[in-house]
Amino acid sequence: MTFIITTPLYYVNDKPHLGSVYTTIICDSIARYKRLRGEKVIFITGVDEHGLKIQRTALNNGVSPKEHCDTISDIFKNNWLEWNISFNKFIRTTSQEHEKVVHEFYEKVKASNDIYMGEQKGWYCVGCEEFKDNPDNSPSYKCPIHKKNLEWKNETNLFFRLSKYQAAIEELIQDQEFIEPKERRNEIINFVSKGLKDFSISRTNLDWGIRVPDHLNHTFYVWFDALLGYVSAISSGDSNYSLDLSIKSGWPASLHIIGKDILRFHAIYWPAMLISAGMKPPKKIFGHGFLTREGQKMGKSLGNILDPEILLNKYGQESVRWYLLKDISLGSDGDFQDRRFVDIINNDLANTIGNLLNRTISMSCKWFNNQTPSISEKNNNEIITLANNSIKNYLNYFDNYKIDKATNEILNFAINVNLYLNKKEPWSLIKDDNNINDVKLIIYNVLEATRIIGILIKPILPEFSNKILAQLGENDIANKNWEESLKWGLLPESNKLQKPIPIINKLDYE
Ligand code: MSP
Repeated sequence: MTFIITTPLYYVNDKPHLGSVYTTIICDSIARYKRLRGEKVIFITGVDEHGLKIQRTALNNGVSPKEHCDTISDIFKNNWLEWNISFNKFIRTTSQEHEKVVHEFYEKVKASNDIYMGEQKGWYCVGCEEFKDNPDNSPSYKCPIHKKNLEWKNETNLFFRLSKYQAAIEELIQDQEFIEPKERRNEIINFVSKGLKDFSISRTNLDWGIRVPDHLNHTFYVWFDALLGYVSAISSGDSNYSLDLSIKSGWPASLHIIGKDILRFHAIYWPAMLISAGMKPPKKIFGHGFLTREGQKMGKSLGNILDPEILLNKYGQESVRWYLLKDISLGSDGDFQDRRFVDIINNDLANTIGNLLNRTISMSCKWFNNQTPSISEKNNNEIITLANNSIKNYLNYFDNYKIDKATNEILNFAINVNLYLNKKEPWSLIKDDNNINDVKLIIYNVLEATRIIGILIKPILPEFSNKILAQLGENDIANKNWEESLKWGLLPESNKLQKPIPIINKLDYE
């Protein structure tokens, strides 16, 4: 079975911000984890390029929408490469491949008698690309997310019969596995219980979109178009790309990771559209929280936007990955605090893990001829129990997408190994020749523990992991079965160690 994981397809109104980096890093760590567990993974990301918001942004920048989209899409793709994102597919909704799939999908929905022409009147938020309820009918009702005035629209549009799928959606969201976290699921259950209304899937006063084949003065509503990017991505790059090929190649998606603001589209509209087209709904939607900065919502008007490029160049991508994955519980809102960021990286990566490795390799190099010690008995000591418990917890957390807990499990293990080393004091024991076997065992145990840390940390910090393992002389790790390599005692004796150099430098707080 193929594990298909997706990020949202990001609007190209601007280059990536820290929120988009956050979602993409989460998906990347899960994709890497699943691959290490031996699953075939298709990791999809990409960009959402049509719609009024993008058309207006291009116009404001004095370029054509196509030019604008080309520029920003390239920036997204290149950014993800810089962030070491291991995506398999990058879909652009302006590609021919995608357009074909949208047309094929539309025909299926039409064949289910789920499309009709109707009047669309209402208040529209261009930022959300969504009609909003206006409880008080005031003329200048603002979008609660974008804080901008809504625009009144009155058009003849094509509609999708969402209301027909009330029972199907109710059944789907009853499944505890379908929407996570629980609080978000409750919001959706509450919304659906009020009754689902049909929604318009085309626009007449908008050129920048995919033309509706049988109504050429209409373009598809940007969400009806973009959600299908998850499907078109699968067969993109194949000369026979099509809706059917995408379905055969692995649909449904196993996991859509998105921000909480776009949960309705994914948990209600999208499954209904798919069921209408005779396709399976995705298996799980995970709505993560929002990132704030020093307690405040990030926004251009507040002038507190954290440019991910600056963070990347200043601190390196893996420091940012560690902070975001370790410090924020997936599903909750999270705050980016500069001081906390620097402290966490210095404490966790430089001191607790980096220094543990560095000082133990130094001792081993000095006392055992630049090698791991040879020992007589590997299998009976307190560190093994700690390691096995941490591994068990870590796997369980990761399997349930509790990435922060999995990450903290690695850190806690490293803290315990440091305590063990400090308690055993091999630097005192070595002074007496009679203690040599004890010292060998202590050093072996700690080095073996750092090997386990290096393996566990691989989906979270792939480069940091390689550095740990390289110093231990474990260079061909990529050729080994990851799960097997978590077994205690696999670090060879008399293994040639690398010269101990710090694997991460401490950060300065400015
Ligand atoms: N184009 C749509 C998604 C279509 S998916 C078929 C879209 N794009 S977006 O670029 O506006 O948002 C992408 C994601 O970024 C959303 O999941 C949104 O929740 C997330 N975030 C936007 N601001 C954020 C933060 N401040 N923090 C975390 N995520 C945030 O919506």
